Amino acid sequence: MSKLWSGRFQKETDCLVEDFHSSISFDKRLYKYDIKGSIAHAQMLGRTGIISAAESEELVRGLEEVLSDIDGGRVEFTVSAEDIHMNVEQLLTAKVGEVGKKLHTARSRNDQVALDIRMYVKDEIDQVGALLRQLQADLLSLAEKHMDTVMPGYTHLQRAQPVTFAHHLLAYCQMFGRDEARLRDCRRRTDEMPLGAGALAGTTFPLDREFVADQLGFSSITWNSLDAVSDRDFAVEFTAAASLIMVHLSRFCEEIILWSTAEFDFIELDDAYSTGSSMMPQKKNPDVAELIRGKSGRVFGDLQALLTMLKGLPLAYNKDMQEDKESLFDAVDTVKKCLLVFGRMINTMRVKKDNMAAAAKGGFTCATDLADYLVRKGVPFREAHAVVGKAVFYCLEQARNLEQLSLEEYKKFSPLVEEDVYEAINIKCCVEARRLTGGPAAKAVIDAIDKIRQRLAGGKASSR
Ligand code: ARG
Repeated sequence: MSKLWSGRFQKETDCLVEDFHSSISFDKRLYKYDIKGSIAHAQMLGRTGIISAAESEELVRGLEEVLSDIDGGRVEFTVSAEDIHMNVEQLLTAKVGEVGKKLHTARSRNDQVALDIRMYVKDEIDQVGALLRQLQADLLSLAEKHMDTVMPGYTHLQRAQPVTFAHHLLAYCQMFGRDEARLRDCRRRTDEMPLGAGALAGTTFPLDREFVADQLGFSSITWNSLDAVSDRDFAVEFTAAASLIMVHLSRFCEEIILWSTAEFDFIELDDAYSTGSSMMPQKKNPDVAELIRGKSGRVFGDLQALLTMLKGLPLAYNKDMQEDKESLFDAVDTVKKCLLVFGRMINTMRVKKDNMAAAAKGGFTCATDLADYLVRKGVPFREAHAVVGKAVFYCLEQARNLEQLSLEEYKKFSPLVEEDVYEAINIKCCVEARRLTGGPAAKAVIDAIDKIRQRLAGGKASSR
């Protein structure tokens, strides 16, 4: 079949080139958006009198049929029609005849593809946002079960101060909350309707752009035709937001991998979310967590590909931009799959509370509390720090911990130490004493949970 643009050509496209420049193999994923956009365009052409009402109705009917044919798997796309836009137009013309050739009046594939991807990104943002909200809800439920599960908090992966498992989980909840907010923010900028930009310089026809925006659920229209067809910022922003989601998932996965080692032994992953070794019969590996950690690299690569593709392009549309899709689609698919499987993995893991508590008791995690105790007795912090440092060294030499020192031994380090020191360095008391907003004490954690719940309840309503 001859090309929709073949008028000024004398020769056929080389078959190698035909395959090379065709995007139908991947942009067919956009068919619903493409057809919805074309229906709105056809309706608008009728309303403005650019085509007749009967022609407009004919086009809409034809497009609806094409949509149901594709939905029903009754369509074979062709590489010779290049991309989803020309495939749909060709299918339409085959169905409705001559009038099909009027659909592309006052439109270019450049503004058409910009429209399709914007619609696609908006929908995917809603879906990824829902997954992020579900994950936060799962983390909240898990946190509520572990308000008093004490575990060591780390810096430099060295035991530092005691926290609770609930507090640790809520740290990730905050990250996923920001990820969701970032996506909502990106959605606002994606939500501009570009049709009417034409190939680059708009069109001479009196289009009703607001009508089209309204029909397609956009809250505004683009304000510069060159920008409208050249801009892929929203795809970059989405992929950057997806990259951060992957960073957060990947860090969490790294901890899950560490925690499930015999060395940490803080959790056990469910059999359904672990895999075995082909050679070593005893192995139970955290492959799911490792794979999510590994897949973060793909999404960062997608972001890099998009940025590099755009950086040298003169205005307006350039064919390089066809390369936006595979990166964007890959980022969408990867982040969605990872969020889904990650949630299930943590919902089913077994938390070994006693091992966490035992680890929190070792490693002198109450040392800061001992220094703070001395500060309350009037010792300047820097001096208290040195005194406790000496006491820690003394313990290390004797393989004991701070709770095991007698009052007499303490008095040698500071005469100000009294019987009440044992309460001050009791691990649970150390946690409970940190009740400032944002801290690990049960009271602060309950407040933090409330705050997240309020945000989740409100977020649903305002995400549209
Ligand atoms: N398949 C193209 C893309 O995805 C559609 C726009 C083509 N425009 C053009 N002038 N060749 O970017």
